[in-house]
Amino acid sequence: MTIGQRLIGKVAIVTGGASGIGAETARRFAEHGASVVVCDVQDELGATVVHEITDAGGTAEYRPLDVTDEAAWIELVTAVEGKYGKVNVLCNIAGVSGRPPSMMVQASGVMTGVSLEHQTLENWNLIMGVNSTGVFLGTKSVIPAMRRAGGGSIVNISSICGIVGSFANAAYHASKGAVRIFTKSTAIQYAKEQIRANSVHPGFVDTPMARPGLLGNESGKARMDATPMGRFGKPIDIAMGCLYLASDEAAWITGSELVIDGGMTAN
Ligand SMILES: NC(=O)c1ccc[n+]([C@@H]2O[C@H](COP(=O)([O-])OP(=O)(O)OC[C@H]3O[C@@H](n4cnc5c(N)ncnc54)[C@H](O)[C@@H]3O)[C@@H](O)[C@H]2O)c1
Repeated sequence: MTIGQRLIGKVAIVTGGASGIGAETARRFAEHGASVVVCDVQDELGATVVHEITDAGGTAEYRPLDVTDEAAWIELVTAVEGKYGKVNVLCNIAGVSGRPPSMMVQASGVMTGVSLEHQTLENWNLIMGVNSTGVFLGTKSVIPAMRRAGGGSIVNISSICGIVGSFANAAYHASKGAVRIFTKSTAIQYAKEQIRANSVHPGFVDTPMARPGLLGNESGKARMDATPMGRFGKPIDIAMGCLYLASDEAAWITGSELVIDGGMTAN
Protein backbone atom coordinates (compact mmCIF):
# COMPACT_ATOMS: atom_id res chain seq x y z
CA MET A 1 0.00 0.00 0.00
CA THR A 2 1.26 3.46 -0.86
CA ILE A 3 0.16 5.79 1.89
CA GLY A 4 -1.24 9.00 0.46
CA GLN A 5 -1.45 12.31 2.28
CA ARG A 6 -5.09 13.18 2.22
CA LEU A 7 -6.12 12.00 5.71
CA ILE A 8 -2.79 11.87 7.51
CA GLY A 9 -3.30 12.17 11.26
CA LYS A 10 -7.10 11.90 11.10
CA VAL A 11 -9.21 9.51 13.15
CA ALA A 12 -12.21 8.23 11.20
CA ILE A 13 -15.23 6.15 12.18
CA VAL A 14 -16.82 4.28 9.25
CA THR A 15 -20.15 2.53 9.80
CA GLY A 16 -21.23 -0.25 7.49
CA GLY A 17 -17.49 -0.85 7.14
CA ALA A 18 -17.72 -4.62 6.80
CA SER A 19 -19.08 -4.69 3.26
CA GLY A 20 -19.51 -2.90 -0.05
CA ILE A 21 -19.11 0.88 -0.07
CA GLY A 22 -18.22 1.07 3.63
CA ALA A 23 -15.43 -1.51 3.35
CA GLU A 24 -13.94 0.26 0.34
CA THR A 25 -14.18 3.63 2.09
CA ALA A 26 -12.38 2.20 5.12
CA ARG A 27 -9.61 0.87 2.84
CA ARG A 28 -9.19 4.18 1.03
CA PHE A 29 -9.21 6.18 4.27
CA ALA A 30 -6.50 3.96 5.73
CA GLU A 31 -4.52 4.14 2.50
CA HIS A 32 -4.53 7.91 2.92
CA GLY A 33 -3.20 7.79 6.45
CA ALA A 34 -6.29 7.81 8.67
CA SER A 35 -6.67 5.62 11.72
CA VAL A 36 -9.91 3.91 10.82
CA VAL A 37 -12.47 2.46 13.20
CA VAL A 38 -14.56 0.02 11.18
CA CYS A 39 -18.03 -0.51 12.66
CA ASP A 40 -20.74 -2.93 11.64
CA VAL A 41 -23.02 -5.71 12.82
CA GLN A 42 -21.22 -8.27 10.62
CA ASP A 43 -18.31 -8.91 12.96
CA GLU A 44 -16.41 -11.51 10.93
CA LEU A 45 -16.52 -9.53 7.72
CA GLY A 46 -15.55 -6.37 9.61
CA ALA A 47 -12.54 -8.10 11.14
CA THR A 48 -11.53 -9.33 7.67
CA VAL A 49 -11.59 -5.78 6.28
CA VAL A 50 -9.43 -4.63 9.18
CA HIS A 51 -6.93 -7.42 8.60
CA GLU A 52 -6.67 -6.47 4.94
CA ILE A 53 -5.94 -2.89 5.94
CA THR A 54 -3.38 -3.68 8.62
CA ASP A 55 -1.68 -6.32 6.44
CA ALA A 56 -1.25 -3.60 3.83
CA GLY A 57 0.39 -1.29 6.37
CA GLY A 58 -2.63 0.81 7.36
CA THR A 59 -4.10 1.50 10.79
CA ALA A 60 -7.55 0.14 11.57
CA GLU A 61 -9.56 -1.68 14.18
CA TYR A 62 -12.98 -3.28 14.20
CA ARG A 63 -15.65 -2.38 16.74
CA PRO A 64 -19.14 -3.92 16.66
CA LEU A 65 -21.87 -1.30 16.44
CA ASP A 66 -25.58 -1.41 15.78
CA VAL A 67 -26.17 2.13 14.52
CA THR A 68 -29.71 2.15 15.95
CA ASP A 69 -28.39 1.79 19.52
CA GLU A 70 -27.73 5.17 21.14
CA ALA A 71 -25.94 3.74 24.17
CA ALA A 72 -23.61 1.81 21.87
CA TRP A 73 -22.80 5.01 19.95
CA ILE A 74 -21.92 6.88 23.15
CA GLU A 75 -19.72 3.98 24.25
CA LEU A 76 -18.03 3.84 20.84
CA VAL A 77 -17.20 7.53 20.62
CA THR A 78 -15.95 7.59 24.22
CA ALA A 79 -13.69 4.62 23.51
CA VAL A 80 -12.36 6.01 20.23
CA GLU A 81 -11.68 9.46 21.66
CA GLY A 82 -10.10 7.88 24.72
CA LYS A 83 -7.77 5.74 22.61
CA TYR A 84 -6.83 8.16 19.82
CA GLY A 85 -7.41 11.48 21.57
CA LYS A 86 -9.90 12.77 18.99
CA VAL A 87 -12.48 12.02 16.32
CA ASN A 88 -12.10 13.91 13.03
CA VAL A 89 -14.32 12.06 10.57
CA LEU A 90 -17.58 10.14 10.73
CA CYS A 91 -18.79 8.33 7.65
CA ASN A 92 -22.36 7.09 8.13
CA ILE A 93 -22.53 4.33 5.53
CA ALA A 94 -24.47 1.52 7.26
CA GLY A 95 -27.75 0.92 5.50
CA VAL A 96 -30.41 -1.60 4.58
CA SER A 97 -32.60 -1.81 1.52
CA GLY A 98 -35.38 -3.52 3.46
CA ARG A 99 -36.30 -5.12 0.19
CA PRO A 100 -37.27 -8.76 0.12
CA PRO A 101 -35.09 -10.67 -2.39
CA SER A 102 -38.10 -11.26 -4.61
CA MET A 103 -38.73 -7.55 -4.97
CA MET A 104 -37.16 -6.32 -8.18
CA VAL A 105 -36.23 -2.73 -8.56
CA GLN A 106 -38.02 -0.54 -11.02
CA ALA A 107 -36.49 1.73 -13.57
CA SER A 108 -38.92 1.17 -16.35
CA GLY A 109 -42.05 2.66 -14.83
CA VAL A 110 -43.45 -0.76 -14.06
CA MET A 111 -44.48 -1.51 -10.51
CA THR A 112 -42.50 -4.62 -9.63
CA GLY A 113 -42.17 -4.32 -5.89
CA VAL A 114 -44.29 -3.70 -2.84
CA SER A 115 -46.56 -0.69 -3.17
CA LEU A 116 -46.56 1.59 -0.16
CA GLU A 117 -50.06 0.59 0.84
CA HIS A 118 -48.67 -2.95 1.27
CA GLN A 119 -45.49 -1.91 3.05
CA THR A 120 -45.67 -3.03 6.67
CA LEU A 121 -45.01 -0.69 9.54
CA GLU A 122 -42.40 -3.15 10.78
CA ASN A 123 -40.50 -2.94 7.48
CA TRP A 124 -40.84 0.86 7.42
CA ASN A 125 -39.44 1.11 10.96
CA LEU A 126 -36.55 -1.20 10.15
CA ILE A 127 -35.51 0.88 7.16
CA MET A 128 -35.98 4.24 8.86
CA GLY A 129 -34.22 2.94 11.98
CA VAL A 130 -30.97 1.99 10.27
CA ASN A 131 -30.86 4.46 7.40
CA SER A 132 -32.18 7.61 9.10
CA THR A 133 -32.13 7.20 12.88
CA GLY A 134 -28.68 5.61 12.64
CA VAL A 135 -27.34 8.73 10.92
CA PHE A 136 -28.99 10.99 13.51
CA LEU A 137 -27.54 9.02 16.43
CA GLY A 138 -24.07 8.88 14.93
CA THR A 139 -24.06 12.58 14.21
CA LYS A 140 -25.39 13.48 17.64
CA SER A 141 -22.80 11.28 19.31
CA VAL A 142 -19.71 12.61 17.52
CA ILE A 143 -20.50 16.34 17.64
CA PRO A 144 -19.04 16.92 21.15
CA ALA A 145 -15.86 15.01 20.26
CA MET A 146 -15.49 16.91 16.98
CA ARG A 147 -15.97 20.17 18.85
CA ARG A 148 -13.15 19.18 21.21
CA ALA A 149 -11.03 18.33 18.13
CA GLY A 150 -11.60 21.83 16.72
CA GLY A 151 -13.84 20.64 13.89
CA GLY A 152 -14.57 17.61 11.79
CA SER A 153 -16.24 16.13 8.73
CA ILE A 154 -19.42 14.07 8.69
CA VAL A 155 -20.17 12.24 5.45
CA ASN A 156 -23.62 10.70 5.19
CA ILE A 157 -24.48 8.18 2.52
CA SER A 158 -27.89 8.98 1.10
CA SER A 159 -28.72 7.76 -2.42
CA ILE A 160 -30.17 8.99 -5.66
CA CYS A 161 -33.28 7.58 -3.96
CA GLY A 162 -32.95 10.49 -1.54
CA ILE A 163 -33.43 12.93 -4.42
CA VAL A 164 -36.05 11.29 -6.63
CA GLY A 165 -38.92 8.91 -5.98
CA SER A 166 -39.78 5.73 -7.86
CA PHE A 167 -42.31 2.97 -8.13
CA ALA A 168 -41.03 0.86 -5.27
CA ASN A 169 -39.74 0.87 -1.73
CA ALA A 170 -41.11 4.21 -0.59
CA ALA A 171 -39.64 3.67 2.85
CA TYR A 172 -36.11 3.45 1.43
CA HIS A 173 -36.65 6.66 -0.53
CA ALA A 174 -38.05 8.38 2.56
CA SER A 175 -35.15 7.22 4.72
CA LYS A 176 -32.58 8.52 2.24
CA GLY A 177 -34.47 11.79 1.71
CA ALA A 178 -34.34 12.28 5.48
CA VAL A 179 -30.57 11.82 5.42
CA ARG A 180 -30.24 14.46 2.70
CA ILE A 181 -32.08 17.17 4.63
CA PHE A 182 -30.79 16.14 8.05
CA THR A 183 -27.29 16.62 6.65
CA LYS A 184 -28.07 20.18 5.61
CA SER A 185 -29.47 21.00 9.07
CA THR A 186 -26.36 19.55 10.66
CA ALA A 187 -24.19 21.63 8.36
CA ILE A 188 -25.99 24.84 9.27
CA GLN A 189 -26.07 24.19 13.00
CA TYR A 190 -22.36 23.40 13.30
CA ALA A 191 -20.68 25.39 10.53
CA LYS A 192 -19.38 28.01 12.96
CA GLU A 193 -17.58 25.22 14.83
CA GLN A 194 -15.87 24.00 11.67
CA ILE A 195 -17.87 20.76 11.72
CA ARG A 196 -18.85 20.03 8.14
CA ALA A 197 -21.62 17.69 6.99
CA ASN A 198 -22.27 16.56 3.44
CA SER A 199 -24.34 13.86 1.79
CA VAL A 200 -23.27 11.45 -0.93
CA HIS A 201 -25.83 10.10 -3.40
CA PRO A 202 -24.76 6.91 -5.13
CA GLY A 203 -26.55 5.52 -8.15
CA PHE A 204 -26.56 1.78 -8.80
CA VAL A 205 -23.41 0.33 -7.26
CA ASP A 206 -22.46 -3.33 -7.42
CA THR A 207 -22.40 -4.39 -3.75
CA PRO A 208 -23.93 -7.30 -1.82
CA MET A 209 -26.97 -5.11 -1.08
CA ALA A 210 -27.67 -4.04 -4.63
CA ARG A 211 -26.47 -7.05 -6.63
CA PRO A 212 -29.78 -8.97 -6.63
CA GLY A 213 -31.38 -6.06 -8.47
CA LEU A 214 -28.48 -5.51 -10.86
CA LEU A 215 -27.29 -8.75 -12.33
CA GLY A 216 -29.00 -11.28 -14.53
CA ASN A 217 -32.56 -9.96 -14.50
CA GLU A 218 -34.92 -7.46 -16.13
CA SER A 219 -34.51 -5.04 -13.27
CA GLY A 220 -30.75 -4.93 -13.84
CA LYS A 221 -31.21 -4.36 -17.55
CA ALA A 222 -33.58 -1.45 -16.90
CA ARG A 223 -31.15 0.06 -14.40
CA MET A 224 -28.26 -0.28 -16.83
CA ASP A 225 -30.33 1.37 -19.55
CA ALA A 226 -31.01 4.24 -17.14
CA THR A 227 -27.30 4.78 -16.44
CA PRO A 228 -25.81 6.97 -19.19
CA MET A 229 -22.21 5.93 -18.52
CA GLY A 230 -23.12 2.37 -19.39
CA ARG A 231 -21.83 0.58 -16.32
CA PHE A 232 -22.84 0.12 -12.70
CA GLY A 233 -20.81 1.90 -10.05
CA LYS A 234 -18.05 0.21 -8.11
CA PRO A 235 -17.59 0.80 -4.38
CA ILE A 236 -14.41 2.76 -5.12
CA ASP A 237 -16.40 5.27 -7.19
CA ILE A 238 -18.28 6.22 -4.03
CA ALA A 239 -15.35 5.81 -1.65
CA MET A 240 -13.33 8.42 -3.55
CA GLY A 241 -16.14 10.94 -3.07
CA CYS A 242 -16.20 10.17 0.65
CA LEU A 243 -12.42 10.56 0.79
CA TYR A 244 -12.62 14.00 -0.79
CA LEU A 245 -15.40 15.21 1.54
CA ALA A 246 -13.62 13.80 4.59
CA SER A 247 -10.35 15.51 3.73
CA ASP A 248 -9.27 19.12 4.26
CA GLU A 249 -9.44 19.54 0.47
CA ALA A 250 -13.17 20.03 1.08
CA ALA A 251 -12.57 22.58 3.86
CA TRP A 252 -15.22 25.02 2.57
CA ILE A 253 -17.79 22.42 1.55
CA THR A 254 -20.68 21.84 3.90
CA GLY A 255 -24.37 21.11 3.40
CA SER A 256 -23.70 19.95 -0.13
CA GLU A 257 -24.81 16.80 -1.94
CA LEU A 258 -22.42 14.85 -4.10
CA VAL A 259 -24.21 12.74 -6.72
CA ILE A 260 -22.13 9.82 -8.00
CA ASP A 261 -24.41 7.93 -10.37
CA GLY A 262 -22.88 7.61 -13.83
CA GLY A 263 -25.18 10.39 -15.02
CA MET A 264 -28.47 8.75 -14.13
CA THR A 265 -30.20 11.66 -12.42
CA ALA A 266 -28.86 14.15 -14.97
CA ASN A 267 -31.22 12.54 -17.44
N1 LIG B 1 -25.26 -0.24 -3.64
C1 LIG B 1 -26.03 0.71 -4.12
O1 LIG B 1 -26.47 0.66 -5.30
C2 LIG B 1 -26.38 1.89 -3.26
C3 LIG B 1 -26.96 3.00 -3.88
C4 LIG B 1 -27.27 4.11 -3.12
C5 LIG B 1 -27.00 4.11 -1.77
N2 LIG B 1 -26.46 3.02 -1.18
C6 LIG B 1 -26.19 3.08 0.27
O2 LIG B 1 -24.83 2.82 0.49
C7 LIG B 1 -24.68 2.31 1.81
C8 LIG B 1 -23.81 1.07 1.76
O3 LIG B 1 -24.52 0.05 1.09
P1 LIG B 1 -23.82 -1.09 0.22
O4 LIG B 1 -24.43 -1.03 -1.10
O5 LIG B 1 -22.35 -1.02 0.38
O6 LIG B 1 -24.45 -2.39 0.92
P2 LIG B 1 -23.82 -3.52 1.84
O7 LIG B 1 -24.96 -4.37 2.23
O8 LIG B 1 -22.66 -4.13 1.16
O9 LIG B 1 -23.29 -2.71 3.11
C9 LIG B 1 -24.14 -2.23 4.12
C10 LIG B 1 -23.50 -2.52 5.46
O10 LIG B 1 -24.30 -1.92 6.50
C11 LIG B 1 -24.30 -2.83 7.58
N3 LIG B 1 -25.43 -2.61 8.48
C12 LIG B 1 -26.74 -2.89 8.24
N4 LIG B 1 -27.48 -2.61 9.33
C13 LIG B 1 -26.61 -2.14 10.27
C14 LIG B 1 -26.77 -1.69 11.61
N5 LIG B 1 -27.97 -1.67 12.22
N6 LIG B 1 -25.66 -1.26 12.27
C15 LIG B 1 -24.46 -1.29 11.69
N7 LIG B 1 -24.24 -1.72 10.44
C16 LIG B 1 -25.31 -2.13 9.73
C17 LIG B 1 -24.37 -4.20 6.92
O11 LIG B 1 -23.99 -5.22 7.83
C18 LIG B 1 -23.42 -4.02 5.76
O12 LIG B 1 -22.10 -4.38 6.11
C19 LIG B 1 -26.08 2.07 2.34
O13 LIG B 1 -26.46 3.14 3.18
C20 LIG B 1 -26.93 2.05 1.10
O14 LIG B 1 -28.26 2.41 1.35
C21 LIG B 1 -26.13 1.92 -1.89
